[in-house]
Amino acid sequence: MNEADNSVKTIGVIGAGTMGRGIVQLFAQGGHRVRVFDAADGAAAQACEFVSGILVRMVEKGRLSEAEQSKIAASMTACKAFSDLSDCDVVVEAVVEDMAVKQSVFKLLEAVVGEHCLLASNTSSLTVSEVASVCTHPQRVAGLHFFNPVPLMKVAEVIAAVRTAPATVTALVSLVEAAGHRAVVAADQPGFLVNHAGRGLYTEGLRILEERVAGVVDVDTVMREALGFKMGPFELLDLTGLDVSGKVMASIYEQFQHEPRFRPSSLIPPRIAAGLFGRKTGEGWYRYENGKKCAPEGLSIPTLAAGIRVWVDPLADAAAALHDVIAQAGAEQVGTQNSSDLMLIQPWGVSASNYCVDNKLDASKVVALDPLPGINAHRTVMLTSTTSTASRDAAHALFAADGSGVSIINDSPGFIAQRVLATIVNIAAELAQRGIASVPDLEDAVRLGLGYPAGPLTLGDRFGASRILLILKNMQEQTGDPRYRPSRWLAHRVGLGLPLITPEALRQ
Ligand code: NAI
Repeated sequence: MNEADNSVKTIGVIGAGTMGRGIVQLFAQGGHRVRVFDAADGAAAQACEFVSGILVRMVEKGRLSEAEQSKIAASMTACKAFSDLSDCDVVVEAVVEDMAVKQSVFKLLEAVVGEHCLLASNTSSLTVSEVASVCTHPQRVAGLHFFNPVPLMKVAEVIAAVRTAPATVTALVSLVEAAGHRAVVAADQPGFLVNHAGRGLYTEGLRILEERVAGVVDVDTVMREALGFKMGPFELLDLTGLDVSGKVMASIYEQFQHEPRFRPSSLIPPRIAAGLFGRKTGEGWYRYENGKKCAPEGLSIPTLAAGIRVWVDPLADAAAALHDVIAQAGAEQVGTQNSSDLMLIQPWGVSASNYCVDNKLDASKVVALDPLPGINAHRTVMLTSTTSTASRDAAHALFAADGSGVSIINDSPGFIAQRVLATIVNIAAELAQRGIASVPDLEDAVRLGLGYPAGPLTLGDRFGASRILLILKNMQEQTGDPRYRPSRWLAHRVGLGLPLITPEALRQ
């Protein structure tokens, strides 16, 4: 990690909207002189007033002294003309997401700033190398991608464009770290690091929905309750807005030349057309009343019929623990399939129906329980294509008897948690394989930028890399979809018995 550079600099911010204001606050609080310019009349001054207002509230809450507040407020200047940025050491551009507009800003900038000044773009989806292509000195141009809200999202991506000098990257990393944020370095590739790594949660959640494996509530519930995510994919899509996220999904897929791992869902365009953007329109995957999500009622739990006899597959991961669950619920465990009313299996990346075919089980009596999160977490129960209502209800009652949450899903090549986790880990593994970011940067960026319970490779190691590989191989075989083909990074580390966070040996 680079040593943070604490020297006071003059920092220009162009574009005083949502992101520009946050960037102004971050660097002003970091002790720098900040010059703000916006094309809209009065917008730069409004941004300075906005930040000053936040500082006043911080003083009221005892988080800042009055002396600090006045010093920070005095360090911000609203500029009237581009030329007022001439003495800047670094300029961060945060204008509209439009290549032509950004290029014109960079051209104008180069005409006014000194040769030592670094130029950074906060673009979230444009190619930084293309922005820099209009510059005479592209080696001093990089991406500097903050997240909203800037002061609270403690990570920023420094994007090394094709012609960016290593010294430019180092200087921006130091600047960001001195302001108290974690700076991660990413290559100038679609979605950079965080938006690239975040594809798995959305696209696999949507595929599960497309295939009618489970509904929105079950997918979100499983991701939260079984895997410890703060939000499931549909809750997150409602928060960010489907109009915005839908475009990002489509653009990353296009930019990666139709890589199947990033394939967006056909479910999205009609919903965008219908205006179901999420929280901001009052309805998305969920409905919102007074800003609160209205979740539909869950399934009512059936009563466990007396004298239910349960057979447990000896190959089940939690065979011993299942014995206790069955006994505590008051059911009877039997050793033969024929004398059972309910048969329990625990497949990895295999549909319950295929498992029955391969192992010659009576699929009408079979339900599958996801082994991935462990027996004490939220439980996901998968039906075969022909599970009887009686066996389904018996399994629901049995697994809910000790107060555990239960989601019941249709047959699928892998449970919700298995599919989504394996996809997230696989995409992260490929990102590491391609050297788009270092492993520590990847792990920290995902934790801080996406709020996942751990970095994606760490999650893979935690739940078992060999199991993730097995899920992917089985899913690929059953679906024939290349989107599930395992990354070499994953296959090599599992084969060699190494943790997924092991960096690649490089010849230099
Ligand atoms: P915004 O619409 O809130 O603000 C853009 C500002 O740029 C406006 O105040 C506008 O007057 C000004 N502007 C437009 N053209 C200009 C020009 N030629 N010269 C000077 N000022 C000009 O936009 P927002 O959301 O702040 O986004 C800015 C950039 O940050 C975009 O590139 C966006 O993709 C990126 N970004 C946005 C995030 C978000 O959550 N809003 C997150 C991360 C990046």
